[in-house]
Amino acid sequence: MAKQGWTSAAIAPQAGKTVLVTGANSGIGFQAARELARHGAHVLLGVRDRAKGEAARSRILTELPQADVAIVPLDMASLASIRGFAGEFLASGARLDVLVNNAGVMALPKREQTVDGFERQFGTNHLGHFALTGLLMPALLKAEAPRVVTVASLAHRNGKMEWDNLQGEKNYSPWGAYNMSKLANILFARELDRRVREAGSKLVSVAVHPGISVTNIAGPGSDFKSRFMRMFGRFLFQNDEMGALPTLYAATAPEVQGGQYIGPDGFGEAGGYPKVVQPRPQALDQQAGRRLWTVSEELTGVVYPVLA
Ligand SMILES: NC(=O)c1ccc[n+]([C@@H]2O[C@H](COP(=O)([O-])OP(=O)(O)OC[C@H]3O[C@@H](n4cnc5c(N)ncnc54)[C@H](OP(=O)(O)O)[C@@H]3O)[C@@H](O)[C@H]2O)c1
Repeated sequence: MAKQGWTSAAIAPQAGKTVLVTGANSGIGFQAARELARHGAHVLLGVRDRAKGEAARSRILTELPQADVAIVPLDMASLASIRGFAGEFLASGARLDVLVNNAGVMALPKREQTVDGFERQFGTNHLGHFALTGLLMPALLKAEAPRVVTVASLAHRNGKMEWDNLQGEKNYSPWGAYNMSKLANILFARELDRRVREAGSKLVSVAVHPGISVTNIAGPGSDFKSRFMRMFGRFLFQNDEMGALPTLYAATAPEVQGGQYIGPDGFGEAGGYPKVVQPRPQALDQQAGRRLWTVSEELTGVVYPVLA
């Protein structure tokens, strides 16, 4: 039997901490939110669909009646929604201890656009989270030990930054766009880490990946990978509780350091318990990280404040 590694039972009490999880109504985001609530955090469920958010909150409260969980409307495919939420949050004067950049869409069969005209996968998975993190920075920097956890994927390994085709306008490939958005997640997490270090900030920025976990992400696509996941996924791959462990470890474990990339420790990193893993070289490219940052500022209009 495989040796058991770190589990959510090891999470220290989180009372007094405020955590925001984007895409918290299902899959990895839901599991992460529930475990953080179980350990006493004030958890904000960032959701684009209020009814799904209410259902997720009810599920948590049925199991954990004392949980401190609230829903916040947050559509990661809309800069207006992101700005609206962040503006209200900052105006409340609240502090944010942990931001989990988790919401995502995968391999959309046809090219779709966000309301701001971005290709939907790059727009939701990367640009939305770039904007949210930057806008919430003043609230994060109020915390004693702020963390930003960005959920990437094994898919980054096949990712390539197509600088002249970021919006998939020249040509669109469902997986090409997804892989690039997940590569962007790691480049962003590492560039944020570089910047906070340079500023002497206490903020810790980490990227994670959940291996291959059975969730709703396969979506309704008719391509082979999506159909395969829907039919056989649950027999072959780990569940979303296991998939949430890297996120939970990155969000709470005291030994975690900025710039790390955390994923499952099993064969091919497809499943298992959290450990520090290595991304592919294209995710370690500092020049690409800087370039992505500049492009993301230009596209979203969000310029980060001083980071310390
Ligand atoms: N499952 C895996 O094997 C796997 C592997 C590698 C990486 N990941 C990453 O893990 C993260 C979570 O995915 P998951 O596997 O847990 O899939 P999931 O169950 O489909 O969860 C994705 C969440 O993101 C939300 N979302 C999508 N678009 C959004 C938007 N515009 N605004 C706000 N929320 C939005 C979804 O909300 P709705 O319910 O409203 O659609 C859902 O709550 C993603 O970033 C994904 O890329 C997953």
